[in-house]
Amino acid sequence: MLTGTTPHVPRAAHAGRSSGPRAGAIVSGNPPRPGVNVTISSTPSTRPAALLEDLDRRHVLHPHERGHRSQRRVMVRGQGSTVWDASGREFLDALGGGIWVAQVGHGRQELADAAARQISELAHFTSFFEYGTDKSALLAERLTTLAPAGMDRVFFTCSGSEAVDTALKLARLHHHHRGEPDRNWIIARHYGYHGTTYGSGTATGIPNMQVAVGPNLPHVEKVMPPYPYRPEMYGGQGTTEFLLNELSETIERLGAGNIAAMIGEPVLGGGGVIAPPADYWPRVRELLRSHGILLIADEVITGYGRIGSWFDSAPRGMDADIITTAKGLTSGYVPMGAVLMREEIAASVAGGERDFFHGHTYSGHPVAAAVALANLDIIEKESLLARSLAISEWFRTGLAGAAELPSVGDVRVEGAMAGIELVADKATREPVTDTLALAVADELYETHGVITRNYGPTLVLSPPLVFERAEAERTTSAITEVLGRLDVASGRIAPR
Ligand SMILES: Cc1ncc(COP(=O)(O)O)c(C=O)c1O
Repeated sequence: MLTGTTPHVPRAAHAGRSSGPRAGAIVSGNPPRPGVNVTISSTPSTRPAALLEDLDRRHVLHPHERGHRSQRRVMVRGQGSTVWDASGREFLDALGGGIWVAQVGHGRQELADAAARQISELAHFTSFFEYGTDKSALLAERLTTLAPAGMDRVFFTCSGSEAVDTALKLARLHHHHRGEPDRNWIIARHYGYHGTTYGSGTATGIPNMQVAVGPNLPHVEKVMPPYPYRPEMYGGQGTTEFLLNELSETIERLGAGNIAAMIGEPVLGGGGVIAPPADYWPRVRELLRSHGILLIADEVITGYGRIGSWFDSAPRGMDADIITTAKGLTSGYVPMGAVLMREEIAASVAGGERDFFHGHTYSGHPVAAAVALANLDIIEKESLLARSLAISEWFRTGLAGAAELPSVGDVRVEGAMAGIELVADKATREPVTDTLALAVADELYETHGVITRNYGPTLVLSPPLVFERAEAERTTSAITEVLGRLDVASGRIAPR
């Protein structure tokens, strides 16, 4: 049971700010009545903003839609770290496409060219059975050279959720085929985010995602994550000590011979950018290995440079058996995920007389693979791993003033991402309501044109890795300005 706070849950009702039209928005035409045909230009960016917002509101069911929010933000163009909405208003994208992607920035011609070339050469051919394409083979080889040693095989997916589902299946299959068919349990963590398909959604530590959609994936057990800012979770013990004891007890209770794998993000992303103590992953790794339990590192956010290395699990001491990735693999230009695994895992699930019954129509899609290859080229040529560490420094320096404000409990910077945890009381560390944190993100959006997001009480930054120093400074000073007007006692942001 959590003592200090509960896992951050996307809530349906956030009434933070007015949903009326933005100041300065170009509203060129009344929204059409339902069922009325409207003739408009075929160029999306020339369509009236209000019309697009209305179409969106009426016809799109959004991922993680917040039921009580009627405003819509329709984006139509991007360049570098800047995006424009349908009204022509410019925004600074401090959240990488709003969802931790856009590593190489928006509007890269090289990626458009790679996609166009591949579409005209061969748009798609399956990777099922013995088939494959030149681009998926080249990409798989490239990933194995970038990955931690021993990760010699790659399975391609279209998303992070599919990558996680694949990893969970691989772990179970591996044990089954090696003669340990009882190893079915998966250990995951509260606050972890792994996706929204049934497997990945069950492994995710956000209880609301498992409500009213059950039965969820059976045999998934959650343990606590490291959360150094909230030591009250650990009953007076050191963070790692408590967590290792809890993990040992969990293994004993479930029975080591019944557990397939543990899954965890090297640094919790959606949980609020929370890094573990340095000894956490090495000790977890050792304990799992001593019981024959596999470790899956979910690097959907941390992979491909977000924290200054290609993969963050190795420097954290995870020495993972399976690594799940997506987002930064293509910078989000086209959907693609990749599951990297040790050769022995691939060999146990397919080979000899054994067939592997798992795959997607678009696994290894050549257009996605071509874009991924071009994307990795850019990351390399423009030294974006190093840039990620520079962004880290700019964030640290720029947020130093904000850290002193009464509403700021903790500032956590990990590579090119940051979590600013807001508190109602700095002494007791009581978190602000999600509604108030959302109001802060709204104020940054409306007043400063800076795109961030709150995950529960934590404001999160995860910009393109091409972020410039001036853009980092604009982001951090906007945050400091807005938080300076946040009065946690009244739960209001004072007018400027
Ligand atoms: C760590 C992690 N794993 C998995 C996922 C799921 O990826 P997707 O949304 O592409 O299915 C996410 C998404 O944010 C994530 O952060």
